[in-house]
Amino acid sequence: MEAHLIEMLGMLLRWLHVVAGIAWVGSSFYFVWLDDSLDPPPPDSEEARKGVSGELWAVHGGGFYNPQKYAVAPARLPDKLHWFKWEAYTTWLSGTALLVIVYWMRAQAMMVDPTVASLTSAQAVGIGIASMIGSWIVYDLLCRSPLGRHDGLIALIVFGLLTLLAWELSRTLGGRAAYIHVGTSIGTIMAANVFFVIIPGQKRMVAAMRAGRKPNPADGARGKQRSVHNNYFTLPVVFIMISNHYAATYSHPYAWAVLALISAAGVLMRHFFNRRHKGAFSVHYLVAAAVLLGVVVLWTAPHIQPLPPVTGPVTLDRVRSIVGQRCVTCHSQAPTFPGIAQPPAGVVLQTADGIVQNAQRIYQQVVVTRIMPLGNASKMTDEERAVIAAWVTSGAPAR
Ligand code: HEC
Repeated sequence: MEAHLIEMLGMLLRWLHVVAGIAWVGSSFYFVWLDDSLDPPPPDSEEARKGVSGELWAVHGGGFYNPQKYAVAPARLPDKLHWFKWEAYTTWLSGTALLVIVYWMRAQAMMVDPTVASLTSAQAVGIGIASMIGSWIVYDLLCRSPLGRHDGLIALIVFGLLTLLAWELSRTLGGRAAYIHVGTSIGTIMAANVFFVIIPGQKRMVAAMRAGRKPNPADGARGKQRSVHNNYFTLPVVFIMISNHYAATYSHPYAWAVLALISAAGVLMRHFFNRRHKGAFSVHYLVAAAVLLGVVVLWTAPHIQPLPPVTGPVTLDRVRSIVGQRCVTCHSQAPTFPGIAQPPAGVVLQTADGIVQNAQRIYQQVVVTRIMPLGNASKMTDEERAVIAAWVTSGAPAR
């Protein structure tokens, strides 16, 4: 029952996380589009005299909208001002809660991979927490340093450091956990940008105006820089959040480099659209992204590790006894593996039928990607993998 409750809590948190994330990414896309699409009003117009630096007209949902942006701020603030922060906070809080129940509370199964490094659960979780907090501290210091004044340079440095993080995590944690913790580190940077920089800066600007002082334009500029960084982080981070469905990426021997290529493609695609909003059609950014993704597709093609020769007949009975020994602690109607409440991914391998039906999936997990048994928790041998490979490639006979 307790495991079931945790599972359902995970479901609700995931639902919330995805919805809040859509709202956050949506407003990020919208405001960057808005900012990039503004045209300055004519110099002698009333708008220009009011201090409007750009405006646009849009039609949506049966109405016409006319947003205007003020160079620093309007002469007088309206009483009602909309803020955008709870999308970010909700996404981070629900995501972190999900991280705790899916990964940290089951660290031995979900984070530790003895073929990568034999860690205790506490060490694995410690590495996860350190990567999230450390990433924010290093990133924030970099942005505040003199380097932070060079937009292109800081982008390259941040990209390089995050790739270094991916490399380091892929040497200490299992593939999925390594990817997810790169993602939660970026997500932490993004939410912290909102919490520690953008919103406090905006609060100072509003307070100055309410007190009849001119707001400090440095607050605006700093908030803008962090907000643009967040915009470029969105595509890589969303990929990482769905990456756990694609073992070919995170279980690759150079998983960190695969992630760097996909992330670079994501940044280039975002850049194409951001330039597009300004009226440029820089299709070479899209072409470059497509080339990187093409490289990823070819580079992650399955490469089956050589297996020892099989001795003796390959029968379903033989496969069944291997699966019974190595898989059913998790893949049964009532799993006995600690922390697993339901058969993972709905795959039940207790019966001969279950094995025959799932033959191709078993082959994929056991022979091609070698993701299963998860973290090789049940210590499957190469001889056993060879028997499964021989059985499936001979047509998975039901005898
Ligand atoms: C320690 C627990 C554990 C053991 C042991 C284990 N699995 Fe899994 N298995 C999982 C989990 C967790 C998932 C779900 C992964 C996910 O959500 O992507 C899974 C998913 C799967 C899937 C579905 C993957 C897909 O998306 O198609 C297959 C097939 C599978 N396992 C086969 C096996 C086989 C065969 C063995 C034995 C050689 C095995 N597993 C041993 C935990 C385990």
